[in-house]
Amino acid sequence: MPTALITGITGQDGSLLADFLLAKGYEVHGVVRRTSSLERSRLKHLYIDPVIYKKSLFLHYADLEDVTVLRRILVSIKPTELYHLAGQSHVGLSFEIPETTSNLTAMATLRLLEIIRDLSSPPRLFHPSSSEIFGEPIQWPQTEETPFNPKTPYGCAKAFATQMVKIYRASFGLFACNGIMYNHESTRRGENFVTKKICAAAAAIKLSHQKKISLGNLQAERDWGFAEDYVRGMWLTLQQAEPNDYLFATGQLHTVEDIARIAFSVVGLRWEDFVEVDSSLLRKSEPVKLVGDASRARNVLGWKNTVSFEQMIHAMTTDELEKQSAIKS
Ligand code: GDD
Repeated sequence: MPTALITGITGQDGSLLADFLLAKGYEVHGVVRRTSSLERSRLKHLYIDPVIYKKSLFLHYADLEDVTVLRRILVSIKPTELYHLAGQSHVGLSFEIPETTSNLTAMATLRLLEIIRDLSSPPRLFHPSSSEIFGEPIQWPQTEETPFNPKTPYGCAKAFATQMVKIYRASFGLFACNGIMYNHESTRRGENFVTKKICAAAAAIKLSHQKKISLGNLQAERDWGFAEDYVRGMWLTLQQAEPNDYLFATGQLHTVEDIARIAFSVVGLRWEDFVEVDSSLLRKSEPVKLVGDASRARNVLGWKNTVSFEQMIHAMTTDELEKQSAIKS
């Protein structure tokens, strides 16, 4: 049975990856912080299942700074694949807590690379890099070869980690890979990310739980895809004969306003009547037209996008409507 270790297993991507790997017959181990049960809600369906929890899914307590504990976990479970998904992933917040972001996103990746460098049988490592490493890119769409030019503390921390993964692959022969992930969303997205925030608000306003929604830059553009596709890309990356970096994106740009238009239309409302702009939500700098060319992933991995932007926003809004209606009744 292949064995995978996932840091950040309680997050959107970590929980989707756990589902995906368990369905493929993996033994899955997750690293979790001692946090509230709420933060583990994305895994609840797995750890209340007696056939899965402690049979093929195991959770271990460790902080990303607990190098000794992380090493002990790696030595004892000997995973064949390590998905390092933990970190401070909110770009806007990285302007408020740049040192924490650098510690959790940049240095934690280096610490893990150092641990696996010393192992006699190091696992294959997947590192989720980000389109934020390109910041203000010199080309559109971006590819795996586009030079880094981050514009945010988060993007800078990811650029460091991405380059370290390349260095450790070249210098120490590790099977360590970057997936350059563009924005990817699902019903499990956290509410401080803009897609979920808007879809949840459209449902809440429809149900009269909320009156308005405040947003920052409505014209901000991103390349938004469906998270389950990106999680499949992570796994495909580690199944190749040789390690390499792959970019995962849709190649299409949409605006924040587009999300609002679709989400509110799903609940039969006009977004203009409920959205207000709050200048405190504007970022100190925004990346410029981050749109990716996923040709390498398509050609080498056979990867593809399976859900359109419209379908995704529709599904996220409908899901919110169902969940919030159930809570009320
Ligand atoms: N979060 C948030 N909240 N964003 C808003 C809001 C708001 O109220 N109003 C406008 N936006 C704009 C942001 O300024 C940004 O331009 C865009 O919506 C998307 O913001 P997020 O959903 O927070 O995502 P992100 O692009 O900053 O970062 C996500 O994608 C990266 C990959 O490109 C995160 O998942 C990162 O971890 C990931 O690396």
